[in-house]
Amino acid sequence: MDKINAVITGVAGYVPNYVMTNEEISQIVDTSDEWIMSRIGIKERRILKKEEGVGVSHMAIKAVEELMRKTSLNPLEVNAVVFATTTPDYMMPNAASLVSTHLGMKNAFGFDLSAACSGFIFGLEVGSGLITSGRHKKVIVIAGDMLSSITNYEDRNTAPIFGDGCGAVLLEPTTENIGIIDAVLRSEAVGGISHLSIKAGGSANPASHETVDNNEHKIYQEGKVVFKHAVSNMSDSCVEIMKRNYLTPEDVQWVIPHQANLRIIDAVTRRLEVSFSEKVMINIEKYGNTSAASIPLCLWDYESKLKKGDNMVLTAFGAGFTWGAVYLKWGYDPK
Ligand code: UT7
Repeated sequence: MDKINAVITGVAGYVPNYVMTNEEISQIVDTSDEWIMSRIGIKERRILKKEEGVGVSHMAIKAVEELMRKTSLNPLEVNAVVFATTTPDYMMPNAASLVSTHLGMKNAFGFDLSAACSGFIFGLEVGSGLITSGRHKKVIVIAGDMLSSITNYEDRNTAPIFGDGCGAVLLEPTTENIGIIDAVLRSEAVGGISHLSIKAGGSANPASHETVDNNEHKIYQEGKVVFKHAVSNMSDSCVEIMKRNYLTPEDVQWVIPHQANLRIIDAVTRRLEVSFSEKVMINIEKYGNTSAASIPLCLWDYESKLKKGDNMVLTAFGAGFTWGAVYLKWGYDPK
């Protein structure tokens, strides 16, 4: 029997209408456009305002509606929905069910996946496993976050970094030599919860007046420590996946790094010796760090440049810590 691969057959995305500029951030905390651009590389980010919609599922529904239009997908054919998010609408029900129910996917099961900024690459590996099992033919992987709901806008260390957005891909089986070929994924609670976490709201530290007063439901980050781990772990996992798939820098058409910081992207791609200007997808300037959404939003932005068979290395790092790299061969020419 021919080997089955899972291949991406469509990509879609959604970012909210409201544009929060560095000038606006500078009026809220003590920072400047010059600092944010030189230290992170962000010019503006999108924020989901109540007037536009509520919860991450609002953005996910928009993204998946576009995906269904682009791929002529009948909702009744969808077998599974994997939703990578750290900001589900509710603790329960899961966000995947909100999306699949809203869009009439009556034959699908859905669940949320928690891997912070690495959510999309973890979700691709899980979705790929569902397809290659032979039991599922159409799997949607959504990756999105409404980080504005967990950002402390009194903390200048984190306020400029994050934005809201959502991406989605459709995975289908193929016997061609395309699709998701390999994955190197890891998770390790380096430093426990001290370097990058939301300290309250879970079962270890449930919500109370005190946790709210102490801003413990918002993201806490020790930027410098996270920066170092991000560079070394993203680089190492890319090197490992390229080595074991016999890929030289020349063989790789695209590197798609999680968009956390332009300096991290620069350091990782230098280590890989791939051409920064020609082969690296970047959109951090206009969306900021959208966590799980950043890689699929890059695919969405660059889709018209991608050709069937292009070799791509996707890499991410996030809270957990979680990190890794996925090697895939793109599935279709521009439509
Ligand atoms: O996506 C998940 C994973 N997350 C990441 O990968 C993020 C990794 N970390 C980073 O991207 C960077 O560490 C940050 C962007 C968070 C911070 O940049 P940094 O260059 O590491 O700055 P820093 O925290 O070392 O701070 C340097 C200086 C400090 O001042 P002093 O002590 O040197 O006087 C900070 O107080 O910059 C100051 N600073 C700011 N100044 C203006 C910190 N935040 C700001 C700000 N505006 N917003």
